[in-house]
Amino acid sequence: MTQTQQQAPGQATQPMVVLSQVLKEYKVGKKTITAVDQVDLTINKGEIFAIIGYSGAGKSTLVRLINGLETITSGSLTVDGFEIAGKRESQLREIRSNIGMIFQQFNLMSSRTVAGNVEFPLIVAGWDKAKRQQRVAELLDFVGLTDRAGNYPDQLSGGQKQRVGIARALATSPSLLLADESTSALDPETTAEVLALLKKVNAELGITVVVITHEMDVVSSIADRVAVMEKGKVVESGQVYDVFSDPQTETARRFVGTTVKTLPVGQEAADLKARHRGFLVNIEVTEGNDSLGRVLSHLGSRNVSFNIVQGGLETLQGQSYGNLTLELLGDVTSLDAVLAELKTVTRVREVR
Ligand SMILES: Nc1ncnc2c1ncn2[C@@H]1O[C@H](COP(=O)(O)OP(=O)(O)OP(=O)(O)O)[C@@H](O)[C@H]1O
Ligand SMILES: [Mg+2]
Repeated sequence: MTQTQQQAPGQATQPMVVLSQVLKEYKVGKKTITAVDQVDLTINKGEIFAIIGYSGAGKSTLVRLINGLETITSGSLTVDGFEIAGKRESQLREIRSNIGMIFQQFNLMSSRTVAGNVEFPLIVAGWDKAKRQQRVAELLDFVGLTDRAGNYPDQLSGGQKQRVGIARALATSPSLLLADESTSALDPETTAEVLALLKKVNAELGITVVVITHEMDVVSSIADRVAVMEKGKVVESGQVYDVFSDPQTETARRFVGTTVKTLPVGQEAADLKARHRGFLVNIEVTEGNDSLGRVLSHLGSRNVSFNIVQGGLETLQGQSYGNLTLELLGDVTSLDAVLAELKTVTRVREVR
């Protein structure tokens, strides 16, 4: 995994971003809006960390707090060991130079060429011309846009624009890259390309990447760890596989349901029951569960037959995970015995 690739064996995990009891309130007239509510979160050096949540959950606010564009109301927030709370603008500027940022709408300057956009942060940072040109060439090569150096943003596709955004964000060699909905304006194929580039940024340059998204596919294809946000709070966090193979909150369950088939409920359950006269159960399937395979292959000798009537598997962090709904056919005693046996090897839920 990315996280371990960059660390020498035995080297302890080091924190890149640490939030302790971070609160962010906005005053709007007489009302107080709590955008980030007492968040505790640690993002480690070298990992790809995803923050997922529905609109208004507080994801972008969290990002703006991390890069010091907004000040926290209370709590503590450190980036690479530096406390951000209570810092002056000049001190924040220094911290910010260590953080790259990419956006949903790319935020490129339309009057500048691709090379000009990538060069801009280097001009701001006071690099001399020869060094700038060399660095721009390096960056365009890294993102695969050397042949587009002289083009203007509106001559590029969405995916190319985001690659320019990534090159620009990397210009001053930050150690942290924040990507706020960086693929939300792109089609699935282009999204995959941009995510592959973010993986390359992480693996080859050792940059810690924080991906903000409302798309489960983005999380499952790129992240090592994930935090699920809801109403300003982090309601679940951990390894992507752990969080999404056993979600504890309704929000996390809904996100998993967008990629992985889960227990059919409501109309879907009613439709399945109308079509199948047998006993319907949903079983969880995880890679390497050989015991489950053995139980299923012996159902015939237990006088029970089965049909797979619904389900799906997804890859999370390189491991298969999913759910299958089975129609079991047999007499009551045999079914009871089979259900008891299945329950010893996986999670079994009746479709109601
Ligand atoms: N500058 C602001 N002034 C007042 N309220 C704000 C401000 N910025 C954000 N909020 C509020 O804080 C909450 C969190 O907003 P935020 O933009 O962080 O959510 P988000 O998770 O990024 O949503 P989205 O997925 O739509 O981008 C919302 O209720 C929003 O209206
Ligand atoms: Mg947002």
